Amino acid sequence: MQKTILVTGATDGIGLETVKMLAPIGHTILLHGRDRAKLDRVESILSGLPGHGRIASYVADLSRMDEVTAMAAAVADDHGKIDALINNAGVFRTRNPITEDGLDLRFAVNTIAPYLLTKTLLPLIPADGRVINLSSAAQAPVNLQALAGLSNLGSDNAAYAQSKLALTMWSRALALSLGEAGPAIIAVNPRSLLGSKMVKEAYGMDGADLRIGADILCRAALSEEFATASGKYFDNDIGRFTSPHPDGLNREKCERIVKVIEQILQEKIQ
Ligand SMILES: NC(=O)c1ccc[n+]([C@@H]2O[C@H](COP(=O)([O-])OP(=O)(O)OC[C@H]3O[C@@H](n4cnc5c(N)ncnc54)[C@H](OP(=O)(O)O)[C@@H]3O)[C@@H](O)[C@H]2O)c1
Repeated sequence: MQKTILVTGATDGIGLETVKMLAPIGHTILLHGRDRAKLDRVESILSGLPGHGRIASYVADLSRMDEVTAMAAAVADDHGKIDALINNAGVFRTRNPITEDGLDLRFAVNTIAPYLLTKTLLPLIPADGRVINLSSAAQAPVNLQALAGLSNLGSDNAAYAQSKLALTMWSRALALSLGEAGPAIIAVNPRSLLGSKMVKEAYGMDGADLRIGADILCRAALSEEFATASGKYFDNDIGRFTSPHPDGLNREKCERIVKVIEQILQEKIQ
């Protein structure tokens, strides 16, 4: 059956490979990017693939929550239903770590924006739908002050690893709170050191075939094996569901992350 699938960060790396895999199956693909010219290029690549279905694109800088809200509204205006949301966009290294909202860029893009997008689009995602959140093997205990933009972390590694655990933790909390009434919310490490620009910039290495990551995201979004995986963490370094960092299984800590994100969105942004 044809699905409607929204992929953030579809203009490069794993996200681009994922939409290239999904489009020829005839699914409706909603592309997200922050750069209109890059999005147009991806739209034309997908439109040239045999078997493609409808393709639409949305621009938003995910470091700006007003743009996330506007994008969600535009998607909701255009589509009655989203079968799968793949929160793939992410950032590791930056020269300007603090956003206009006073947040660390990694927490803003990797943790808070996908939360806001997911919560806003939730009414459009059916109970048998999926939200796939791009986690990582890099996971470190979250400094709540830093998440809220009240202190600096000082290193790209720390900010990235904390943002990815925070994402994994809100995935778990949201999955538990929605239960069977909501879509499956699943955190996925697509495989470490896949050859994207993020990995090339961060580690100066070519990295592995991006299609390894795209393949697991397609499976997570569409295949039966992930249908009852809400709240779980899939680690593609070992090819199976496993435990994330212990904080990711601590319900109280996971709920605290959600509370802090909700506070940030209320006080600073909306
Ligand atoms: N590669 C790996 O080995 C690996 C391992 C574990 C997890 N991951 C995760 O996988 C996801 C994809 O990463 P990747 O390796 O494919 O990296 P990538 O090639 O750098 O792609 C990142 C995507 O996110 C978009 N993006 C970045 N900042 C944004 C912002 N402020 N607003 C909107 N979009 C933004 C980028 O847009 P532009 O095209 O405009 O730059 C790009 O489309 C990330 O969440 C990453 O943390 C990757």
